[in-house]
Amino acid sequence: MAGDKVIFACKGLSKAFGGLRAVDGVDLEVREGELRALIGPNGAGKSTFFNLVTGQLRRDRGEVYFNGHRIDGLAPYQVMRKGIARTFQITSTFRRLTALENVQVALFVHHQRHLNPLALFVPGHKSMAEQALHLLEQVGLADSAHKPAGVLSYGDQKRLELAIALASEPRLLLLDEPTAGMAPTERREAMALIARIARERGLTLLFTEHDMDVVFGYAERITVMHQGKVLVEGLPEEVRASPEVQRVYLGEHG
Ligand SMILES: Nc1ncnc2c1ncn2[C@@H]1O[C@H](COP(=O)(O)OP(=O)(O)OP(=O)(O)O)[C@@H](O)[C@H]1O
Ligand SMILES: [Mg+2]
Repeated sequence: MAGDKVIFACKGLSKAFGGLRAVDGVDLEVREGELRALIGPNGAGKSTFFNLVTGQLRRDRGEVYFNGHRIDGLAPYQVMRKGIARTFQITSTFRRLTALENVQVALFVHHQRHLNPLALFVPGHKSMAEQALHLLEQVGLADSAHKPAGVLSYGDQKRLELAIALASEPRLLLLDEPTAGMAPTERREAMALIARIARERGLTLLFTEHDMDVVFGYAERITVMHQGKVLVEGLPEEVRASPEVQRVYLGEHG
């Protein structure tokens, strides 16, 4: 459950593509340990918002704070080093490497920066392969450890991306449509797993999602974006009852 500490905040975050204001003056605060959904119709600006936070895109205006530090203007690897990991709407793994190797690469990149590599040879220290397998077990993918990532089902690739993101030991995890492309039952299962991992690790979660069962089943608070702006933010019951939200979704998602 969320504490009182605001771990992530942004003020006036904005990005235009030509004349299109994809993200338009977004203010957002997320408390440590919170499970927050960022929803909105197609084109609302959710993925662009993620790309601004993680440095994949350069903002036009605005400030982003994580854990008390300003992080806007940092490169993606620097943002990751601060403790933010993400997954993409379109999965991006090394398709010819096995699931295990994909996670090992992620662990290697992380440890290279944070640990003395010699620590890996201390007796009793878990090898990177062991750590990678443990992460795959956590996301329910141990049985596919030795399959190339490219042959995994869409849902399993999403799980693999989650394991890769967890390898960097983030404090904030941004998930862009973690259940897209999955069957409805698989979606709830995947989100239950994500929520459990987040709780176990004390992670803060910010996720976009189009499946309203998943959103209302797991989010503690919901931020609704529309045309680049925050339309409404509140508890699930408040968002559900909002006439503005109903208007925006009417005809789009029934
Ligand atoms: N690189 C880009 N160049 C130009 N326009 C872009 C670019 N990326 C996004 N857009 C536009 O910005 C707007 C916001 O797109 P974005 O992908 O952030 O929406 P979204 O809320 O993630 O939508 P979805 O739910 O479909 O994933 C859309 O109108 C989109 O076409
Ligand atoms: Mg998107």
